[in-house]
Amino acid sequence: MARIIAGVASSHVPAIGAAIDNKQTEEPYWKRVFSGFEKSKEWMAKTKPDVAIVVYNDHASAFSVEMIPTFALGCAAEFPPADEGWGPRPVPVVKGHPALAAHIAQSVILDEFDLTIVNKMEVDHGLTVPMNLLFGQPKDAWPCPVIPLAVNVVMYPPPTGHRCYMLGKALRRAVESYPEDLKVVIFGTGGLSHQISGPRAGLINSKWDKSFLDNLSKDPKKLTRIPHLEYMREAGAEGIEMVMWLIMRGALDDKVDEVYRFYTVPASNTAVGHIILENARKASGTRKVAGKSKRGSAGKSRQAAARKSIHRIASKGKR
Ligand code: DHB
Ligand code: FE
Repeated sequence: MARIIAGVASSHVPAIGAAIDNKQTEEPYWKRVFSGFEKSKEWMAKTKPDVAIVVYNDHASAFSVEMIPTFALGCAAEFPPADEGWGPRPVPVVKGHPALAAHIAQSVILDEFDLTIVNKMEVDHGLTVPMNLLFGQPKDAWPCPVIPLAVNVVMYPPPTGHRCYMLGKALRRAVESYPEDLKVVIFGTGGLSHQISGPRAGLINSKWDKSFLDNLSKDPKKLTRIPHLEYMREAGAEGIEMVMWLIMRGALDDKVDEVYRFYTVPASNTAVGHIILENARKASGTRKVAGKSKRGSAGKSRQAAARKSIHRIASKGKR
């Protein structure tokens, strides 16, 4: 079966992408930022995931204000870089994993999370910058297929942290019901504290960010109770991007190994935060499913029936 082996979270500051594209990574200001990701790139090169699920937000590049899905799953075969105003970034086209993405859509929607299925989508810095930070800047192709999951954190109301955390659990159930042996890494992106405009532009709250990172690692349920107003007040208007990290965290074990953390202030307007969390290694087949479901038996049997039919469809496809 497919397994989520680890979660990675990172800020997605667009100026980081520009520093890479304009070959400024050795300048002292940027070296401070990039040096924090050297170990992470080594970890990723060693981990070699078969697929990455990247939870990110679109910044009015693929979706305009005319249509804003709360959760949109990229099911296409490829996702070209978006034109963000200076032309598309010179990064490879992101290849998708349509079979796993279709399976996730079916499993998660039948699990009663109503995702939007997206079969054509361009991806902006929200996705490509964290990819660069963890995979480097490949010339021709990214090292693994990617399933983008776009979350609305741009226009009120974004989803709650609790909803995001529970979606993470549904994603894990989806991945673990996919019959092929695949190692999956899930990314949470955006944040940490930042505010781009208005009287509080430039706000950074390192104390709050660090406590968020501590709780993400050790007590994520506490984070699920943070209301939107607290993100706005403490982490700035764009700090709400941090709810996306809770999708990643929900997809992991309750107890995880924190294998790496990095924090630096600032990059552009933003506090850069980064963490790598691994699920405990267990022999496949003996893993317990994330969290305990509080659903009633009707909900459970509905899910079980849905999942059985997914297995049937998936194994038919393999013949
Ligand atoms: C910045 C950060 C963001 O997350 C973003 O989407 C745009 C700009 C910044 O720090 O400048
Ligand atoms: Fe952003």
